[in-house]
Amino acid sequence: MEMGTPGMTLMERAGAGAWRVIRRYLRGRPSARVVVLAGRGNNGGDGLVVARLAHAEGYPVATLLLGRPGDLRGDAAEACRRAREAGVEIVPLDPDGGTPAEILDLHLEQADLVVDALLGTGGRGAPRGGFAEAIQAVNRWRERRRERQHTGQPPGWGVVAALDLPSGLDPDTGRAAGAVIAADFTVTFGALKTGLLMGPALRFTGAVHLIDIGLPAEAFPEPDAFLVTPALVRSDLPPADPDAHKGSRGRVLVAAGSRGMSGAAILAARGALRGGAGLVFAAVPAGERPVVASAVPEALTIPLPEDEAGRPGPGAAEAILAWSPAPDAVVLGPGLGRSPAVTAAVLELMGRCPAPMVVDADGLNALAGSDGEPDAPAGAARGTQAAAPWPGPRVLTPHPGEAARLLGTTTGAVQQDRPAAARELARRWGAVAVLKGARTLVAEPSGRLWIIPTGSPALATGGTGDVLAGLIGALLAGGMAAPAAARTGAFLHGWAGQRLARRWGTHGALAGDVPAAVARARALLARGGAREAADRRMLESCGIILEDAGDLGD
Ligand SMILES: NC(=O)c1ccc[n+]([C@@H]2O[C@H](COP(=O)([O-])OP(=O)(O)OC[C@H]3O[C@@H](n4cnc5c(N)ncnc54)[C@H](OP(=O)(O)O)[C@@H]3O)[C@@H](O)[C@H]2O)c1
Repeated sequence: MEMGTPGMTLMERAGAGAWRVIRRYLRGRPSARVVVLAGRGNNGGDGLVVARLAHAEGYPVATLLLGRPGDLRGDAAEACRRAREAGVEIVPLDPDGGTPAEILDLHLEQADLVVDALLGTGGRGAPRGGFAEAIQAVNRWRERRRERQHTGQPPGWGVVAALDLPSGLDPDTGRAAGAVIAADFTVTFGALKTGLLMGPALRFTGAVHLIDIGLPAEAFPEPDAFLVTPALVRSDLPPADPDAHKGSRGRVLVAAGSRGMSGAAILAARGALRGGAGLVFAAVPAGERPVVASAVPEALTIPLPEDEAGRPGPGAAEAILAWSPAPDAVVLGPGLGRSPAVTAAVLELMGRCPAPMVVDADGLNALAGSDGEPDAPAGAARGTQAAAPWPGPRVLTPHPGEAARLLGTTTGAVQQDRPAAARELARRWGAVAVLKGARTLVAEPSGRLWIIPTGSPALATGGTGDVLAGLIGALLAGGMAAPAAARTGAFLHGWAGQRLARRWGTHGALAGDVPAAVARARALLARGGAREAADRRMLESCGIILEDAGDLGD
């Protein structure tokens, strides 16, 4: 019983909701054979409800149960009894791994659609014994079907549906501790689990459908991670001001670029301008000034003292701090290069400049103590000394490699548990942390986490991060608080990437295309009128489908 609703009712609702979604995938295949793989817990129970409903509609169904029917308890046992009574074929398999792989393959070979109901939120660690073998068998089956589809051999069609979450996936981190089901889609119940929304989980979950099973919000633990929705972004963006002038939109100072990397300054400045800044000042090493000024004539340029390699040299921080008028936000880091003088300038600016600041790329390298000198102290050690309290809000925008340097760990470790890495960055550095990558995360020092649904592989190219830094800078300069600016910037940037992918595909869009696409995405988002259906469609384009509550069907 959960909050007054009997557990069996919830299980029936979950199974019925899942079946409604699965049936859509089976459209046009009335005799598709459904094979349900069920575990011994409630996830298995949900699968047995699906098996019964599919059977009731005339689909040929078999359930492979990892255990004996007598192993099931409570609601799962009741779901099993109902399925058996309805005439569903139930095949018990050895949960300890005693079932030969050929037997598993043989059963699966008959399938057209496989329902994964082995492990749900109760799964702990790497799947053991027969569970791992069953998962591997399903993944092999899916691969075989794909291969046949590509070579035109029947039967080529074959789809895997995961219930609640792909078995083996950690519900909190999206981490794969061992074998994990690679699903074509996932039907999840009651609430989106954080792990389902993590970038590394995307290749296991497919599209995620959320089913309302009528659980009240109080039934869930107080959430500490939130999906950034189009509605939230719209409400965070400042309304259009009919009285606006360039002075009222915010001044962004972009401290970026060095010899050979003036493009980073150009892209960050364009990101800030297309992000809505009223005025952008590009503070660049003096030698880069002509090229930056001619590439971005809308920006004013500030010459910085430079070293012999064309990087900002001693005195650069003072030149920026002394600049008048004082900026409303600073973007620090893209393309600065690495040197002890750059590191000193970054630390000085972070420690003395009261304006909100975005720190990116070489700014982050400097912060991590990685200044290109062989005897530089380890990043994590130096970082802790340099950290907060800062004189103004700070937003750090690392990709996983930079995050690893800031945390003194490896990129692999960051990707294994992105929520933990993002939170630790925010806590350790006293800043809002934007951990970039598929499904960018925004963490606040309090531990609150924001998940950005938008994004596209089209953005996996040099320079797009510089645009994001400029964009967040513009939003900060426009008066947004650091967490809102970070999540809004990341959301718009990701959506711009999706829109570019529609035009150019996932390969070939330029970072230089992103600023205008961001402005367009913002304009579309800010449009008035009835937004609910459009917002839903937008989330769908990110692979997150909020199913209609519909009839709970009790
Ligand atoms: N709570 C609700 O209101 C609600 C509503 C709708 C649906 N559900 C469903 O219920 C599910 C949760 O059910 P549940 O708590 O019974 O857990 P479960 O996800 O069904 O898994 C529990 C079972 O898995 C086994 N197990 C755990 N880790 C394993 C591993 N690494 N390898 C092999 N076996 C492992 C457990 O055996 P041992 O005990 O021996 O480890 C236990 O038999 C949800 O995911 C959802 O599908 C819940």
